[in-house]
Amino acid sequence: MAEDAKLKIDGADYEFPLITGTEKEIAIDIGSLRGVTKGVTTLDPGFKNTASCESAITFLDGEEGILRYRGYAIEDLADKASFLEVVYLLIFGELPTVDELDKFHSDIKDESHVDEDVKKILGGFPKSAHPMGVLSSLTSALTAFNPTAVNVDSEEDMYNAIIKLLGKFPVLVAWTMRTKMSQPLDYGSNNLGYVENLHKMMFSRPNKDYNVDPQVIEALDKLLILHADHEQNCSTSTVRMVGSSQAGLFASISAGISALWGPLHGGANQAVIDMLEAIKTDGGDTKKYMAKAKDKEDPFRLMGFGHRVYKNFDPRAKIIKKAADDVLELMGVEDEVLDIAKGLEKEALEDSYFVDRKLYPNVDFYSGIIYRALGIPVEMFTVMFAMGRVPGWIAQWREMRQRKEPIGRPRQVYIGETHREFKEIKER
Ligand code: ACO
Repeated sequence: MAEDAKLKIDGADYEFPLITGTEKEIAIDIGSLRGVTKGVTTLDPGFKNTASCESAITFLDGEEGILRYRGYAIEDLADKASFLEVVYLLIFGELPTVDELDKFHSDIKDESHVDEDVKKILGGFPKSAHPMGVLSSLTSALTAFNPTAVNVDSEEDMYNAIIKLLGKFPVLVAWTMRTKMSQPLDYGSNNLGYVENLHKMMFSRPNKDYNVDPQVIEALDKLLILHADHEQNCSTSTVRMVGSSQAGLFASISAGISALWGPLHGGANQAVIDMLEAIKTDGGDTKKYMAKAKDKEDPFRLMGFGHRVYKNFDPRAKIIKKAADDVLELMGVEDEVLDIAKGLEKEALEDSYFVDRKLYPNVDFYSGIIYRALGIPVEMFTVMFAMGRVPGWIAQWREMRQRKEPIGRPRQVYIGETHREFKEIKER
């Protein structure tokens, strides 16, 4: 195998070392490029060919449809682990023992309350506010309530900041939803599991005993595991980028939430249901929408299809499709929108436009259907994604800070005006 990469520019030869990851991925280390070439840089919009870091957290192979957290297959984790075990695994690198998990959960429970003044901030948002904007603001506001800077060289300081976020974030998620639905805020109960407590905070009623079918919690747990990390995607890269300026954990996560909100990223789960509803209202003609998706003059895209990295299938979509069927059966839901989704999927998988471009259903194509069956409002779908992704963001932030990565600061190729003489306003 080649040991270095050769580059010729204007007759001059340059050599750059190759880096090989543990899964045999090869990267050209161009760290010395500008120096040795006296200013030549690389151009790669959207980072389609650029690794922004070395990371030991998540491995994915888009061609083979493989996703692993810390070496463990997503299929095994979704089947056998709890969300909290996966949170621990992602952040600390190993699956926890019983004692480690107990301590971790107990520490999180000690932090599962927020300052009462957070309610005042919540009350200040208009009812029309999108929950993602509210969640991002509240997460950022946590900095104001916890102003001590994290000493990233201290494991203890780092641990405390992480526990604080994991304790308080489900409260913010649940309260964002309850405020939107004009319901009283609930603090949950420390006697419940992490995910069950989140569910209670979201769904309990003040005048009713809280009861939930364990299968509902299992489905929610699985969804959160499937969303827990996905290496250097848009929101995770944002968290690492913001964190690289040494902004705090809460500020970095808040920025990640904003990045996740977009319809080309986490916002796709809401966009999928909006699209399926629109097709239903329009008479359920899937062929018409397939044609729109293929028409280059039409900006419409089949939401929930395609992925920057997966060019075979999204392994999460496979697991989630089965989970959607199970949840709908459990809840006794007959969802016309699911029939439309299945119809679209079938047509797309047989259509050369989608086949040639390797466009397969992604995780968001089915997650919204499950959230809906669980009674979660459509505008909350991306918030649920954020709830699942928090451990991944934390793990990536922690890794970036512990590796003492430099501040993220890309280069550019300037294509604007060259130097111009300034003209006084009356002369223009
Ligand atoms: N519907 C129709 N055509 C599509 C779709 C789609 N959903 N996705 C890609 N294409 C087409 C593009 O028009 C392009 O066609 P062309 O080669 O003829 O110009 C080709 O497929 C490649 O598309 P790109 O946009 O270059 O692919 P990229 O890797 O940049 O984008 C993305 C990936 C953003 C996910 C895209 O597939 C998309 O917009 N999908 C819909 C939104 C979505 O579901 N996002 C969720 C992603 S998963 C996640 O974030 C959790």
